[in-house]
This record gives sequence, C-alpha cells and structure tokens, in this order.
Amino acid sequence: LTMEKAKDYTELSEMAAERIITKLSQKPDAVLGLATGSTPEDMYDALIKAYELKRISFAEATTFNLDEYVDLDPSDENSYAYYMYHHLFRHIDLSPDNAHLPNGKSADPDAACQAYEQLIEKAGGIDLQVIGIGLNGHIGFNEPYTPFEQRTHVVELDETTRKANARFFPDLDAVPTHAVTMGIQNIMESKELLLLVAGEQKAAVLERLVYGDKTEAFPASIIKDHPNVTIIADQGALSGLK
Ligand code: F6R
Repeated sequence: LTMEKAKDYTELSEMAAERIITKLSQKPDAVLGLATGSTPEDMYDALIKAYELKRISFAEATTFNLDEYVDLDPSDENSYAYYMYHHLFRHIDLSPDNAHLPNGKSADPDAACQAYEQLIEKAGGIDLQVIGIGLNGHIGFNEPYTPFEQRTHVVELDETTRKANARFFPDLDAVPTHAVTMGIQNIMESKELLLLVAGEQKAAVLERLVYGDKTEAFPASIIKDHPNVTIIADQGALSGLK
C-alpha cells in the first residue's frame, strides 16, 4: 500500500490525473476503471486539459465505470452515465462504443450484470481502476457486509449512502434505492488500484482504512490485499493519521 500525500484537493486531482496520463502514454489502449462522485471531478478536469494540450488521447482507450443507479435514464442528470458524459466523455476523443457503465435500466438486471462482466473480460481486464471511498467504507456501491467475493450485482443502497448522495437530488425521496455495482472481486482483479481520498470529512475513514483490520464491515479494508494499490490523500483526509 503506497500512500501519496497531496497538500490539497487541487494537487490530489493533478496527481491522480498524472497517473492516468502516464498509463495512457505507456499503453494507449489501456482499460480504465472510473468512478463518479465529488472526489474525481477535478481529476477529470485535469484530464480534459491534458487532452486539449495533446498530451494524451483516449482514442484507443476503453473505460468501465464502477456503478450506476437503477432506473435512472442516461439522460437523467443524476445518472452516472450523465455525470461521465458531462464531466469527461463529451470533452475527449474516447469512442462512445468504448465507454461502458453498468446498465441500471435492464429488464433483466442479473443478465445485465453478467454481460458487464463479459465485456470487462473481453477487454482484457481493467489496467487501472480509480475508486473513491464512502463515509461507511464502501467502494463502488459495495456497502458494509457485502461479501468480499461478490461480483457485479444489484444492491440496495444504505440509508447513509442515500443521504450522503441526496445533495445531488431535489430531495431524499428522489435518490434511487438501488444501484448496479461492480463487486469487490472485480475491483480487486484490476491490475492497479488508485484510491482517492479528499477532505476532512474522510479523515475517520482513512484512519480506519490505514489502522483497522480487514473486515466485511468496512469494505475498503480489502484493498490492503491488492498487490498494486496507491492511495492519494490530501491534508484534510490525512489529518486523522499519526
Ligand atoms: C462512485 C462510487 C462511490 C464513491 C464514494 C465517494 O462511482 O463508486 O463509491 O466513490 O461514494 O463519493 P464522493 O467522492 O462523492 O465522496
């Protein structure tokens, strides 16, 4: 577990973007695993800048997002498909055919999860997976007590997660109750893992991750078993560490 320390959110975002830029420079057809939420927003801005400066191209790259809400249309502003389009995809040269998110609108969700798994496998697996961490230690939408061996599946969201994400919605009732997420097993199979942790509100979770035991009660604790994981954290998030 490598810890890289950023002085603030801006530096964290630049450091994270550089990891992706380096990966794409070494391997233009890299398979990138992407996350949504507040944390990676400025990383995406930095990637767009790098693309505009012609430092990188996504023309040969493939992306797979961690998760998507159930029942939100991709045109819905709160869907993760919309988030990705808005924050990244529409600004770069990634082929729409190569940009994948779980399908939260399938009539047969289990079959859709299987299909997503197969797409990842066909692409050769994920080279670099970016993840964030929830206030309850979730990664993707793998909430506490999700079995570590779980693969892509439909989850019922924790009340705490729905509340944390309600800031993006008109009210709590509008937050979907379910999502499709890559499982912890999928996340662990990525060749490289990059966890971004920003802000003082994440200090306690980072502390638990660093000093705590591996337990399904705290899903992110599994990443200590990954052979190639880097955490980039800013000073706020690091404030709970000795
Ligand atoms: C998003 C995802 C979630 C978030 C986590 C942190 O695709 O999988 O696990 O990474 O909820 O969210 P933020 O960055 O908004 O604090």
